Amino acid sequence: MKILGIETSCDETAAAVVENGYKLLSNVVASSIDLHIQYGGVVPEIAARSHIEFINPAVEKALEEANCVWSDIDSIAVTQGPGLGGSLLIGVMTARTLAIVKNKPLYAVNHVEAHVYANLLVETSLNGYKLPKKQPKFPLLALIVSGGHTQLVYFEDHFKYKVLGRTGDDAVGEAYDKVAKILGLPYPGGPSVEKFAAKGDASKYKLPKSKMPNKYDFSYSGLKTAVLRAAQATIGEDYSFPSYKLADKLTEAQKADLAASFNRIAVEALVDKTVKAYDEFSPKSLVIAGGVAASPELRRQISQRLPIGIDYADIKLCTDNAAMIASNAYYQIKANKPTVDPKTLEINPGLTM
Ligand code: KG4
Ligand code: ZN
Repeated sequence: MKILGIETSCDETAAAVVENGYKLLSNVVASSIDLHIQYGGVVPEIAARSHIEFINPAVEKALEEANCVWSDIDSIAVTQGPGLGGSLLIGVMTARTLAIVKNKPLYAVNHVEAHVYANLLVETSLNGYKLPKKQPKFPLLALIVSGGHTQLVYFEDHFKYKVLGRTGDDAVGEAYDKVAKILGLPYPGGPSVEKFAAKGDASKYKLPKSKMPNKYDFSYSGLKTAVLRAAQATIGEDYSFPSYKLADKLTEAQKADLAASFNRIAVEALVDKTVKAYDEFSPKSLVIAGGVAASPELRRQISQRLPIGIDYADIKLCTDNAAMIASNAYYQIKANKPTVDPKTLEINPGLTM
């Protein structure tokens, strides 16, 4: 069974074909990130306009790369939410139109849930992918960490899960993006903070770890503010000093130390809770999903503190993509989930797990 996935929840216009939920036949991602860099974050209107431009070529390329014609495609899957309204709309309207015109069943997918399904892709006809050797086993514990989401989820089986905890404010990737802005490093913040962190001393600044009433919940806004205060204090200023002027006053070494101290504590907060949940639930597998799974510091701390090995998904499948959407839909079909009506499917920007 071959499923065409379509994903446009943020700034990536993506289309992919996946066979039987595990075999990646194509993975096309057109990012509008270059257009957002000068603003230090994704501008929703620009993202939506780029989706309009890229979506049809992306779908065509995904079919071509997969050596498929329309008659080879069994179903279409699309991200319904969560995400930016204008962005989601382009993907959903495209999928609805294609489902009607090409007469294919249509499935709606939760983007956050789908991040976990990137880890179920274990074979490919494409070059340049390093995939897990086998699929994770249930029950599985998933740490979903990206620019928009930070949550710990215990899956008993497909679509049978319990969200153990989530962030009460900023997502972890968002915290990286904001700290990068304070330090004058380019967007997206994850990779640029990591790069600076490698040159710094992580014990230089004592930054706080949040305490939440629910032991599995996360919080990142206090840590981000602590970095801001530490940066102000470092140059001898108080809290009233404007954050956008800090980058010019900090030396490269000070930036590296701030980046390293933040990077360590941001990751430690993730790993502390993952270890706790692992001990409580004894899952058969642990999966790290979302863009922050690329973090070398996260991978280092996980391997140091957890007794279980992790077979990471290729980084191109950790960040937003449509293959995870197609894989999720395959398991929806296996679980006898209903199709959605292509004439009426609506976006759901606030969809949660
Ligand atoms: O999953 P994703 O592509 O998009 C969302 O659904 O949000 O994740 C993007 C996020 C960005 O916030 C970026 O800063 C973060 O992932 N990220 C990283 C790294 N690479 C990307 N965070 C920490 N370390 C990295 N190496
Ligand atoms: Zn995502």
